[in-house]
Amino acid sequence: MQTDLGGKVAFVTGGAGAIGSAIVKRLSQNGACVVIADINIDGAKTLASTLPDAMAVEVDIRSEAAIRAAIDATMDRYRRLDILVNNAGVNTLAYRVNIDSFPSEEWDRITTIDLDGLFLVSRHALPSMLAGGRGGRIVNIASVLGIAAMRLQSPFIAAKAGIIHVTRSMALELGPQGIVTNCIAPGSIMTELTKKLFYGDDGTFAGKTEAFMQHLPLGRPGMPEEIAEATLFLSSSACRYVNGQTLAVDGGWTAGFMM
Ligand SMILES: NC(=O)c1ccc[n+]([C@@H]2O[C@H](COP(=O)([O-])OP(=O)(O)OC[C@H]3O[C@@H](n4cnc5c(N)ncnc54)[C@H](O)[C@@H]3O)[C@@H](O)[C@H]2O)c1
Repeated sequence: MQTDLGGKVAFVTGGAGAIGSAIVKRLSQNGACVVIADINIDGAKTLASTLPDAMAVEVDIRSEAAIRAAIDATMDRYRRLDILVNNAGVNTLAYRVNIDSFPSEEWDRITTIDLDGLFLVSRHALPSMLAGGRGGRIVNIASVLGIAAMRLQSPFIAAKAGIIHVTRSMALELGPQGIVTNCIAPGSIMTELTKKLFYGDDGTFAGKTEAFMQHLPLGRPGMPEEIAEATLFLSSSACRYVNGQTLAVDGGWTAGFMM
């Protein structure tokens, strides 16, 4: 879609990552000034240098002080904040284990970044968003695993389910002030990392992945640009009566079973 985000300022956490950078580019292509907020400052700077009006800020969303500084830097440069995309997130590769042997440090790391981080960023961004009195848009990136669980990733599914529900509470609280909050639940998205893990460098599906693809009505993983497209809609003025919802961008994964 094409929309006019001219004059709007967007703050995208994890904006240097695979899905985040696709979101940043899509918002920028539609006229937004974009703040790329990431712990990976080199990646954020590189991306910012390719866009007409963007700024990279180094932020670890576990640190309230770093978040405050990033929001202050945004307001110093742009004087407004219209769109917040809570996209930064992590999962575990080292510990795909049952909950009875899941290390509590790893549980804490994942839930602190994926859920607490979203809360902290939202809390610090909101006063600036509300100050303008122009309303705004918040898009939270969860996962289909927040809707339908998967084994051996208990903190990730707990955090992503939390994001889906806190999105509803944000919609109830912020709707009266003109801020529309929604959530996206990506399915399996093809990134450099997931390509190596699941899809093979040549993009072929083998073994378990092939079986999994047969469960997807569209028979393929999603692309970061497909999450970016949904984010663009939820960030735009076209999204004015959808509030508190979770849009699964998953090729039909959560629609049911392909039997
Ligand atoms: N790729 C998928 O298949 C998939 C599926 C469902 C949901 N998601 C969600 O989409 C979002 C983006 O995932 P991705 O695949 O692009 O991953 P990615 O690893 O490519 O990007 C994540 C970004 O978040 C940043 N980040 C990590 N910890 C941070 C912290 N503490 N503070 C600030 N930034 C931090 C990373 O530097 C990175 O740039 C995540 O929330 C993820 O859970 C991804």
